[in-house]
Amino acid sequence: MLANDRTPGPIGVFDSGYGGLTVLDGIRRLLPEPDYLYLGDNARAPYGTRSFEVVYQFTLQAVRRLFDMGCQLVILGCNTASAKALRTIQQVDLPRLAPDRRVLGIIRPTVEAIGQYTRTGHIGIFGTPGTIRSRSYDIEISKLYPGFVTTGQECPLWVPLVENREFDNPGADYFVEKYIDTLLHRDPLIDTALLGCTHYPLLLRKIRRFMPREVNIVTQGDIVAHSLADYLRRHPEIAARVSRGGSATYLTTESAEKFSEMGSLFLSKDIQAQSITL
Ligand code: DGL
Repeated sequence: MLANDRTPGPIGVFDSGYGGLTVLDGIRRLLPEPDYLYLGDNARAPYGTRSFEVVYQFTLQAVRRLFDMGCQLVILGCNTASAKALRTIQQVDLPRLAPDRRVLGIIRPTVEAIGQYTRTGHIGIFGTPGTIRSRSYDIEISKLYPGFVTTGQECPLWVPLVENREFDNPGADYFVEKYIDTLLHRDPLIDTALLGCTHYPLLLRKIRRFMPREVNIVTQGDIVAHSLADYLRRHPEIAARVSRGGSATYLTTESAEKFSEMGSLFLSKDIQAQSITL
């Protein structure tokens, strides 16, 4: 990697697996012009139950690879990686590896937007054990909205249901209902439920079915897209280093065939992925 190479390149979007596709989809709807390079580390997903150190090492490897492939800007389209790896990568690795390049997470933009959805100020957060135990959302929300009450709900089985293509099957109902009921039992005043894992929008139909109507369900695709558009407006020097051919390239650390099939299903259009090793 040439740390000072400023040749325009695609925007990198990284996730442990398929979940980041929900972020990429939101971004491409709002910002169709840039080129995008998506990387799913499906071979090592899920990240949500892995240690801080392991998530950090895996995420750093992925970011380095996306830099090597020409990305000047990488979005961690994964809450677990944003919670556990973003700060160290921004503060320790970037200055050393590629001081001119940027890595952005999705927790801060989500927190900035969450205030507009709630009336009671009671927010429920669904996430992986890693995200919930990091308390990243609770900490960031308390900084921005000191009066809000947050309740985090670990959903260890939701990502495996998605990664194993069970998200639309009847077997998933039990675990969708269970985590929703547990959360609302812990704080009945919750009027806003954040899907704080990029895999969860794939369970949205079921989540809507089991969630009381009066609770707002917040997903991140649109929020991250608007935040990125705003970032590029405020940082024209970074925007100038984004290539604009409107393409999307999909990379996976698992089988290309499997990713192409699942990715096409998630995005409702045909995609062809390529397999890489990290
Ligand atoms: N999609 C990721 C997130 O937003 C994590 C899924 C996982 O690998 O556990 O947290």
